[in-house]
Amino acid sequence: MIKKGIILAGGMGTRMSPLTKAVNKQLLPIYDKPLIYYPLSILMLAKIKNILIIVNKGQLEQYKKLLPNGDRLGIKINYLEQDRPRGLPDAFILGKNFIKNDKVAMILGDNFFYGQSLSKMLLDCVKIKDGAKVVLHKVVNPEKFGIATIQGKKILSLKEKPKKTKSNLAITGLYFFDNKVSQYAKLLKPSKRNELEIVDLLNKYRKKNKLSAELIGRGGAWLDTGSIEDFYKTSNFVSAVENQQGFKIACLEEISLNNKWITKKEVVKSIKFYGNCEYSYYLKKVIS
Ligand code: TTP
Repeated sequence: MIKKGIILAGGMGTRMSPLTKAVNKQLLPIYDKPLIYYPLSILMLAKIKNILIIVNKGQLEQYKKLLPNGDRLGIKINYLEQDRPRGLPDAFILGKNFIKNDKVAMILGDNFFYGQSLSKMLLDCVKIKDGAKVVLHKVVNPEKFGIATIQGKKILSLKEKPKKTKSNLAITGLYFFDNKVSQYAKLLKPSKRNELEIVDLLNKYRKKNKLSAELIGRGGAWLDTGSIEDFYKTSNFVSAVENQQGFKIACLEEISLNNKWITKKEVVKSIKFYGNCEYSYYLKKVIS
């Protein structure tokens, strides 16, 4: 079972400038809560309690105001700073002391997942024994994503932003790795854009026949919130679902309560922490 997870929540957010000049992208709102709540909720739905959040140098205090140490949520939140965006595999080099000799999940701080059988899929993914697993989702514009070709659940090839491809399965920002990941990440060389590339890391597993895939079906949504357009699309999606159904997506306290990691007492503490707001009213409904 994977019991540790990393959220990579640094980055320059260049595509969203000037919104990201003073505030990190993951602290901006997706409808009624900061973006970081969504990837964090995914790790919590995977029953992962031990979490490392990697943030940009100088932005730690902002994050700690929102998510101090996880006590209120019944989880453990650790932080590390990244001095510049060295690429996604840098998470496993920076996070080596957090990972120790364990398996680990990693989610990008700007990725949004939603769907009916998502929790079940996540619980399958964390059962990984050795090797690595990626989560794939169909897209209409494969030239904009890392694309995988598969046979059953086995990955045959991986290509970054291919101009021509028969596959339309994009590699999402959610990954599961065995305990060799830090060791493999250290062997990587920076690419032309001077970053360590996740595709290079995944290829190390693929070449050993140790890379598998899990698919999010058509009932599931995956949205990468990297551009302003995508950001508002995701916000509208959350608003539509929440207002139609009356349930919140990524209400961390609700997930934790369902996981039996906290009791109503901690939720009351959260209500005090948030103050008089719509999110608090929802929490009151959850415990009533
Ligand atoms: P990107 O979308 O590659 O980068 P970005 O978010 O900085 O946006 P832009 O391209 O507009 O400049 O990153 C994906 C996610 O991973 C995002 O949540 C930021 C995070 N990230 C890091 O925390 N450290 C890194 O070294 C990189 C490359 C990304």
